[in-house]
Amino acid sequence: MRVFVVLSVLALLAMPAVAADHAGKASYDKSCKSCHGADGAGNPGIAKMLKVTLRPLGSAEVQKSSDADLKKVITDGTGKMKPVAAVTAKQAGDVVAYIRTLKK
Ligand code: HEC
Repeated sequence: MRVFVVLSVLALLAMPAVAADHAGKASYDKSCKSCHGADGAGNPGIAKMLKVTLRPLGSAEVQKSSDADLKKVITDGTGKMKPVAAVTAKQAGDVVAYIRTLKK
C-alpha cells in the first residue's frame, strides 16, 4: 500500500514533463515526421530532394543546441527548412521536450 502511495506521488511529480513530451510527440508526428522521420533520423528522400544533410535530431550536434535555438528553428526555420506555421510557440516548447527524448 505504502509503495503504491509513493509511486502515485512520483507519477504526479513526473507528470508535467511526461505531458509535455507527449503533446510534443503528437505535434512532431503531425508537423515534422514527414521530413525528419519517426525517430528524428531524417527522411533520405527529402534530404536528397532538397540537397541537404538532415542531421539526426537525436545526434550530439543537434542536441547541443539550446532549447531556445531549437524553438527558433521551428518558429523561424533554418536554411532550407521553412518555419512550421502549424506549430504555435507553446507547442514548439513541447516539441523541443520531445526532441530531447530522441537523444542517443
Ligand atoms: C518540409 C520538410 C521539413 C519539415 C516539415 C520540418 N523540417 Fe526541420 N529541417 C528540414 C531541413 C531540410 C533541414 C535542414 C536545413 C538546412 O540545413 O538547410 C531541417 C533542419 C532542422 C533542424 C536543425 C538540425 C541541425 O542540423 O541543427 C531542426 C532542429 C529541425 N529541423 C527540427 C524540426 C522540427 C521540430 C519540425 C516540426 C515542428 C521540423 N523540423 C519540420 C526539413 C523539415
